[in-house]
Amino acid sequence: MAAALSSGTSSIFVPSRAKILLFISLAITWWFASVLPRYKPAIQEKFKARLDDALQALPSIKVDWNRQSHDPHDAYNASKVALMIEPRPLPHLVPHLLHMISTVPPDWRFLFIGSAESVVSVGRAYATQYQQVIGKLDLMVLPEPWNISSKEHVFRTLTDARFYDEFLPSVEWILKYESDAILCANSDRSLNEWLDWSWVGAPRTFADQFPGNGGLSLRRVSAIRRVLSFQARYNDSEPEDEWFSKRIYLLPDVKVALPTDQPLSVEDVYFPDAMGYHVRDGGRTPLNYQVWGEPGQRGAIFDYCPELTMIMEMKLERERCLSAGT
Ligand SMILES: *[C@@H]1O[C@H](CO)[C@@H](O)[C@H](O)[C@H]1NC(C)=O
Ligand SMILES: *[C@@H]1O[C@H](CO)[C@@H](O)[C@H](O)[C@H]1NC(C)=O
Ligand SMILES: *[C@@H]1O[C@H](CO)[C@@H](O)[C@H](O)[C@H]1NC(C)=O
Repeated sequence: MAAALSSGTSSIFVPSRAKILLFISLAITWWFASVLPRYKPAIQEKFKARLDDALQALPSIKVDWNRQSHDPHDAYNASKVALMIEPRPLPHLVPHLLHMISTVPPDWRFLFIGSAESVVSVGRAYATQYQQVIGKLDLMVLPEPWNISSKEHVFRTLTDARFYDEFLPSVEWILKYESDAILCANSDRSLNEWLDWSWVGAPRTFADQFPGNGGLSLRRVSAIRRVLSFQARYNDSEPEDEWFSKRIYLLPDVKVALPTDQPLSVEDVYFPDAMGYHVRDGGRTPLNYQVWGEPGQRGAIFDYCPELTMIMEMKLERERCLSAGT
């Protein structure tokens, strides 16, 4: 027994032609295996470096969850992204983001583009770190020369085709929402019902043919690219949503909502059961009277969409005026 074992052990180390060949072939296989993953499609290589530069590192938190696939992003549809661009570290960004994640259909991914300050303020909550680790949420700080420090800079970014090439590759649908816009969980419609439209947001007037206001809007990147292929926005001119909607509306073969279709969001025109609301500056600047002026309608809006309290300036109940009717 002992003799057989020792002869067996020593025979492993006795070189023979066959063993040397086996060793060489294994070494070649390992070498190939280590080199192969580096052969990525060359086409996106230029943008990939910029994208990796902008993406914030994943937090190192422990998540008790089985990985279905190597890249957690694979669990979501790469062509649908809910996008917020916000340089200010506003106090409600985390609950707002979590609310949006729970009201947007589950196959959508989320992208938050911010300043170093706002990205830190969003990324330090465990709840958002968790969303990052499961591939649902990405946080980004755009590298120079991109700049989102003012509204005008954000307009320039959104009207630059390179922005879509570099940071939103393979995205076709963007739900663009701002920090003063919200989806109402009570709505029985799904965002995915609007995927056919090239652009749908909030109408500006009752007579509006096309709900173009963009604070809470769904846009198709293919339509945006068509506009940008032959038009350029002048710096310091109109906001990007006005600029785009005037042009997208005129493109042949686009679907923009007509008055008979219920628009996506309420801003200056009220309709019941809206998918969501855009309340400019959270109500710090005067609100549209037709939407908010009448107390009965205002009460109905808050009953239907209590989430609005998250984005609007509110007083505490105990600060309420005591005199009736105010
Ligand atoms: C992503 O969503 C679009 C629109 O719903 C759909 O056509 C497409 O097949 C989806 N892609 C994947 C990979 O599921
Ligand atoms: C963005 O532009 C503004 C005004 O031009 C400038 O003050 C600011 O430093 C720029 N920010 C970044 C991050 O480049
Ligand atoms: C508009 O602003 C960008 C920087 O934000 C600048 O690169 C570009 O040259 C400006 N365009 C014009 C026509 O001045």
